[in-house]
Amino acid sequence: SNSSVRGFMSQESFCRVCSGKVREFYDFGRHPLSDAFVDPEKVDDEEFFYRLAVGVCRDCTMVQLMEEVPRERMFHDGYPYQSSGSVVMRTHFEDFAKRVLNAEDLGTDPFVVELGCNDGVMLKVLADAGVRHLGVEPSGGVADLAAAKGVRVIKTFFEEETARRILTEHGPADVIYAANTLCHIPYMDSILNGVRALLAPDGVFVFEDPYFGDILERTSFDQIYDEHFFFFTARSVRAMAERFGLELVDVERLPVHGGEVRYTLARSGARQPSNAVAELVAEEETKRLTAPDTLSAFGERVTGIREELTSLLRRLRDEGKTVVGYGATAKSATVNNLCGIGPDLVSFVVDSTPDKQGKLTPGTHIPVREPEAFSGPYPDYALLFAWNHADEIMAKEQRFRDAGGQWILYVPEVHIV
Ligand code: SAM
Ligand code: TMP
Ligand code: ZN
Repeated sequence: SNSSVRGFMSQESFCRVCSGKVREFYDFGRHPLSDAFVDPEKVDDEEFFYRLAVGVCRDCTMVQLMEEVPRERMFHDGYPYQSSGSVVMRTHFEDFAKRVLNAEDLGTDPFVVELGCNDGVMLKVLADAGVRHLGVEPSGGVADLAAAKGVRVIKTFFEEETARRILTEHGPADVIYAANTLCHIPYMDSILNGVRALLAPDGVFVFEDPYFGDILERTSFDQIYDEHFFFFTARSVRAMAERFGLELVDVERLPVHGGEVRYTLARSGARQPSNAVAELVAEEETKRLTAPDTLSAFGERVTGIREELTSLLRRLRDEGKTVVGYGATAKSATVNNLCGIGPDLVSFVVDSTPDKQGKLTPGTHIPVREPEAFSGPYPDYALLFAWNHADEIMAKEQRFRDAGGQWILYVPEVHIV
């Protein structure tokens, strides 16, 4: 059949870090872009689809997508995601900025560069403190929000050429920071050559992204979508850094976004790696994170969740219960399109992001409405797509529970609370 031919042809791709062979371990099928919310007026226009599949490099163990979506299709003036949408994340980024401000080893006039600064939530703290800084943000809409906060930002993709331009205009960077951005970038050679060019001799490159160890542990398969190209481990990041004259000198596990790791890279030999690096690499080896049987077991759990979630939602529909989605997350595009969840199973999704409201979710076209729609009247069940913000959302929506409402979650397994 057509699909088996396609399957045969795309079982293997080449690693975007080391050019080794990438072995596929899960095929989600055809998916739309996770942040391409559909204007109801343009519902007849064809949506862009790609094959969402994930694999592991046999040589360097980097977990990555099998197919790459052109960056301009994802990151453009209409990119809707705003970092300031969560109070917890705002605090998280402000804490990082304060840590930079209090760092004793920074000189008298440090220069901080952030890749993917989005609406400027982190850099605003540095701007207010008078620290020399620059945000690099290709998505024009959110870059404008950063500029409106007094953040200095250039609207472009960071890559080697951008790094050299910044170096010429501003001098070397003491800190380069990227949150939930490095894993979005397939062209890693250009990025890390750029980082090495721009970094001051004693500078650090700090980035934080969803941790593959947590994705496996929680079966959080919805972290896998177009924008998340790489799924890092300490082992794969350490190997990647070495290829570019950099060294992994620290790792720190973070609770945000369902479990992340903050990696710190320095020029090779410039800093003594902390014990945490060797410890996390050893833990990953013990857990055999990227071994074929570990990865195929993950795939079986994903398929199990798909079946359980679809049958639960069908049963609730047949019983006449109302179900609403909470958080039109990019992650939810993977869930909805893998499970075939459309407006027949979930009437609408509420979301606080202005640019998502009034639109339809990618692929399965569930209407997105403002948060106020949640209580008018409360549904019987709420499917928590923004499960990574569960504490914040459940606290804010306590009255839903008080009214007898129940939350449906699908990681680490399908359950109702
Ligand atoms: N740092 C913010 C946070 O953690 O909430 C934003 C994360 S958002 C998921 C990813 C951001 O990376 C988007 O705003 C996107 O425009 C930006 N981005 C994508 N490719 C980039 C590149 N090559 N250089 C700089 N930013 C990039
Ligand atoms: P994220 O998981 O990628 O951060 O996306 C979270 C989405 O959920 C984003 O579209 C904003 C939305 N959201 C709400 O609607 N209400 C909330 O209280 C929070 C924290 C997020
Ligand atoms: Zn590789």
